Amino acid sequence: MAIQWFPGHMHLTKKAISERIKEIDVVIELLDARLPGSSANPMLAELTGAKPALKVLNKQDLADPARTAPWLAHYNSLPGTRAIGLDASMSTPAKALIEACHALAPSRGSMVKPMRVLICGIPNVGKSTLINTFTGKRATKTGDEAGITKLEQRIVLADGFYLWDTPGMLWPRIIVAKSGYNLAASGAIGRNAFEEEEVALELLDYLIPHYPEMLEARYKLKLAPGVTDEQLLEEIGRKRGAVLSKGRINLQKAAEIVIYEFRAATLGRITLETPEEFAQWLAAGQKIDAERQVKKDLIETNRLIKFKKIPRPAKPDEA
Ligand code: G4P
Repeated sequence: MAIQWFPGHMHLTKKAISERIKEIDVVIELLDARLPGSSANPMLAELTGAKPALKVLNKQDLADPARTAPWLAHYNSLPGTRAIGLDASMSTPAKALIEACHALAPSRGSMVKPMRVLICGIPNVGKSTLINTFTGKRATKTGDEAGITKLEQRIVLADGFYLWDTPGMLWPRIIVAKSGYNLAASGAIGRNAFEEEEVALELLDYLIPHYPEMLEARYKLKLAPGVTDEQLLEEIGRKRGAVLSKGRINLQKAAEIVIYEFRAATLGRITLETPEEFAQWLAAGQKIDAERQVKKDLIETNRLIKFKKIPRPAKPDEA
C-alpha cells in the first residue's frame, strides 16, 4: 500500500510559512511522541533553513516513556535544536515552551525585540488543543479526521512573546512505507486514504516483537512462538466477538478494534519507532526513491533521444 496524501491546503501552508519565516526567531514543530520520526515534516527544514528549531513531542501521555527519553536526547543532540515532551494534561505548557525558546534565541524576548515563534505540525498532532490552553478558549476543531484547516492566528503567550499558528500540514510524498502505516495508525491521515485491515496488520507486526505483554494482557491471550500478524488479528476478532456467518472472522471489525485501542492507549503506552529504527527506514526509503529517480531519468533520456531532442550518445567503439 502506498499512502499518498497531500491535500491542496498544504500548498497554502507551505506558501504561508515561506512568506512568514523571515520574521520568525524559533520554529516550533509539534511531533507525535508515539511516532516522532514519521510525524516530522521533512519539508519544514527546507522552508525554515537554519532557524532555531524546538521539537515538541506532544501526546507524551500516550507514548512509551522509555522511548520518549531517547527521542528527546536525539533531537537535543542536533545543532540549533531543542526538544521537550508535552501533553494536554499539563497545566502550564507555556512555561516549558517559553523557556526552551529563550534557550534557543537568547537575544529575543523583550518588548523591543520580541520573540516571534511559529507553531506547526501535521494534522491531528494536537496543535489546536495546545493553542487553546494558551488562549483559554474551547477547542475550535475536534474530531479525529485529519486535514481540517483553520485560519492562521497570532497569540500573545507572554510579554514580548508571540506565537503564530499555521494550519496543519503533511508532506507531499511519504517515501518511507512504514511511516505511512504509523501515521495512519495514529489518526494523522484521513480514513479514506488507507485500508484499516492493512494498517492493523502492520501495527500488530510491530507490536508482536516489541510490546507482546501488552497484547497478551489486553486481548487475554498467549502469543504462540512465531505467531503471524494475520493469525493474531483473527484471534483478536474471535475474542471480541467480531464473527460473521459460518464462524468467519470479521477482519475489518477486528482491525478497527486494534487501531482504536492503540489510538486511545487502551493497549498501553506505545511508541512505534526508535531513532535508530527510523533512521534505517529512512535510509532504505531514500535508496528506493533514488533508484526510482534513476529509472525515471533513463526513461526521459530515451524519450528525448527518440524524438531527437538530444543526440544519441556515441557507443565506445564509435568514439
Ligand atoms: P491539530 O490541531 O493538530 O489538528 O490537533 P487537535 O488539537 O485537534 O488534536 C487532535 C486530537 O488529539 C484531539 O482528540 C485532541 O483531544 C487529542 N490530543 C491533543 N493533544 C493531546 C495530548 O497531549 N494527549 C492526548 N491523549 N490527546 C491529545 P479528538 O478525539 O480528535 O478530540 P476530543 O475528543 O479530545 O475533543
